[in-house]
Amino acid sequence: MVNMAKKIYLLGLESSCDETAAAVVTGDGEIRANVVLSQIEEHRPYGGVVPEIAARSHITHLDHLIARALAQAECDFADLAAVAATSGPGLIGGVMIGMMTGKAIAAARNIPFIGVNHLEGHALTVRLTDKVDFPYLLLLVSGGHCQILIVRGVGAYQRLGTTIDDAAGEAFDKTAKILGLGYPGGPAVEAAAKLGDGTRFSLPRPLKGKPGCHFSFSGLKTAVLRQVEKIGATISQQDIYDLAASFQCALCDSILDRMATAVDLYLEQYPHGPHILVVAGGVAANDGLKTSLRQFCQQKKFTLMVPPAALCTDNGAMIAWVGVERLRRGMVDGLDLAARARWPLDPDAPPAGGAGVKA
Ligand code: KG4
Ligand code: ZN
Repeated sequence: MVNMAKKIYLLGLESSCDETAAAVVTGDGEIRANVVLSQIEEHRPYGGVVPEIAARSHITHLDHLIARALAQAECDFADLAAVAATSGPGLIGGVMIGMMTGKAIAAARNIPFIGVNHLEGHALTVRLTDKVDFPYLLLLVSGGHCQILIVRGVGAYQRLGTTIDDAAGEAFDKTAKILGLGYPGGPAVEAAAKLGDGTRFSLPRPLKGKPGCHFSFSGLKTAVLRQVEKIGATISQQDIYDLAASFQCALCDSILDRMATAVDLYLEQYPHGPHILVVAGGVAANDGLKTSLRQFCQQKKFTLMVPPAALCTDNGAMIAWVGVERLRRGMVDGLDLAARARWPLDPDAPPAGGAGVKA
């Protein structure tokens, strides 16, 4: 059993999408190193992540990123108490590379291995950055996921809502493509939106006013496409800015509408609080969304907590931190753990209907 009272070092590996990342975090939450290598340039010519290119790039770079993280943290393999690696959900080739690397280090050093659910990495980051206690309400908005969850504890989640088609980040990425704003779409749409008028185009607010907390964004993206087609070849730079801003407003509006129901459901279970809303995942870097949620939280008397942008997008520190949380509770894995392309945080959640439902 690991002695958690002494200063321990956890290595965290992330390779589930287009970031290769290695980090060293201590048991008391000090980020000693957090090295992230983005593959954006390799995927840019294709306008999206190509799984085979991602996997090849992870395998090429992971070793030296681990070496760099250990050097920055001023420690060695011999100092590690355990190694944690994303074991799903994500692009399976990349997940397997990070997970097998983690297992190999654990086997060679005879230390525990912890296979981390990538979504739990996003979900618990706020405990690394702000020492937030359980429970809290979580809006998880990333490229692959858009979910509202009650976080009760490590490994204990209740999913209140998910997307029935596109994830929020996916909607940003697809809208950016339609508007010719390039890849990756989120930051590009946000930058364009800052120069535009969000009230100019009346775009749909999917599922607004409907019961439940599920999301739908695919119709919103199609509405942007229809507007672009309607304007035709005369489309101006200002039209593009206004469309980006109108899209972002509609997306934020839909999210707030769904969050209002989620807050009610949370309060039914925790009428006396704590009243904390955490936002995590890559889209949490969006200033427009943060401003909307700040106003929303003021009205609802909730405290909004958003980790810094560098810890909202994919990174190894969040994976190492889940390692710390799980090691502390004796939740370690065998070296026979399988990589999983799909891995819901709340396996008991009733399935959401819809075309391309995300777990
Ligand atoms: O969490 P993340 O790094 O990877 C996944 O686990 O998916 O999220 C990436 C997603 C991408 O879709 C990206 O376009 C979006 O987050 N994103 C943003 C912003 N920065 C990243 N979306 C809106 N505004 C941003 N500033
Ligand atoms: Zn992520």
